[in-house]
Amino acid sequence: MTTAIPTRLSLPPLQLGRLTVDVPVVLAPMAGVTNRAFRRLCREYGGGLYVTEMVTARALVERRPESLRIIDHDDDEKIRSIQIYGVDAVNVGKAIRMVAEEDRADHIDLNFGCPVPKVTKNGGGSALPWKTDLFEAIVGTAVREASRADIPVTVKMRKGVDDDHITFLDAAKTARDAGVAAIALHGRTAAQHYSGQADWDSIAELREAVPDVPVLGNGDIWSAEDAARMVEQTGVDGVVIGRGCQGRPWLFGDLQAAFEGRDERFRPGVAEVSTIIYRHAELLVETFGEERRGMREIRKHIAWYFKGYPVGGELRAQMAQVSTLAEFRDLLGQLDQSLPYPGADVEGPRGRAGSPKKVHLPDGWLDSRILGDAERLGLADAELDVSGG
Ligand SMILES: Cc1cc2nc3c(=O)[nH]c(=O)nc-3n(C[C@H](O)[C@H](O)[C@H](O)COP(=O)(O)O)c2cc1C
Repeated sequence: MTTAIPTRLSLPPLQLGRLTVDVPVVLAPMAGVTNRAFRRLCREYGGGLYVTEMVTARALVERRPESLRIIDHDDDEKIRSIQIYGVDAVNVGKAIRMVAEEDRADHIDLNFGCPVPKVTKNGGGSALPWKTDLFEAIVGTAVREASRADIPVTVKMRKGVDDDHITFLDAAKTARDAGVAAIALHGRTAAQHYSGQADWDSIAELREAVPDVPVLGNGDIWSAEDAARMVEQTGVDGVVIGRGCQGRPWLFGDLQAAFEGRDERFRPGVAEVSTIIYRHAELLVETFGEERRGMREIRKHIAWYFKGYPVGGELRAQMAQVSTLAEFRDLLGQLDQSLPYPGADVEGPRGRAGSPKKVHLPDGWLDSRILGDAERLGLADAELDVSGG
């Protein structure tokens, strides 16, 4: 079945408290991906809000160098947007106070969507909104601390733990009442991980349930046309793009064009992709201040950039082990630079997928929506060694 696809996204700028985001498009926080280098690359194509990788409240409060690196921004990032993950209202409050007092960000997003077992098994991430008192305490404290410096706070969540334990509607109302500037919903439960299809109906339901706060839709936007469809089907105020831009920073150019009613889309051939990925590598080396680290980081992007392009397995394998910029330039030079954009093979789903998984939770977590004392103690470990959602 084919349906008429709107290419025009007639949405006003996104208002987040005192901030105006001209193009209502958000680069989803992605651990290990949305660092300064990748955000710069994306920004060069189009407008929007570009969020850091997540950082734990605890690591920030402890001033761990890696956490300060994560929330660092380029001088020309107009809206310095960061994402904090925390399971304890006091720590989240301290982290936000530090960010505010030291003027380290203009916007703060709170992560309540992480489905990884080592997070949910201690009650964090997407398991957390199940505990209504804890959720309310964290969001309330965050908004209070941030408001002293007039910093808007947003929340990002999933639908719930699983189909029998849906949390997004009541959590959204709590967040709205606490004074958040917007609510982003990834239309999957924790149990779904990244499998199946994001449920855009739930996003539409949320849009209707909280008419007085901006709602951002997230999940399975792979093209500007998908973004337009989501806006049309759900009525959201903006879209959040994660995996769709992995290896395709130019997607933000397509989105900007669509928002301006233009049909132009970036369709890079191998030569252009080679130039872009090399630049990505250079930016990573600059960001991490070390060639070895930067080149280690670029490796995971190779398969994403060349997905659907006819690049031989051996060359791909060599690129996936590249360790210097010079070596990378040489390998890229071995590609057939005349190959055009391959079309459909490059489009559609990319990145993490997989199958539904059992959600690991603390014992008895789902028995009550109020946090018990033993559960509170268990949370202490929920922020240890965590990255990604
Ligand atoms: C590699 C990777 C890392 C992620 N890290 C985070 C994170 O740090 N914080 C967060 O809230 N979500 C994280 N996510 C979830 C994304 O922000 C987004 O909600 C999810 O990928 C669904 O959007 P998409 O279908 O556009 O990819 C991550 C996803 C991926 C694939």
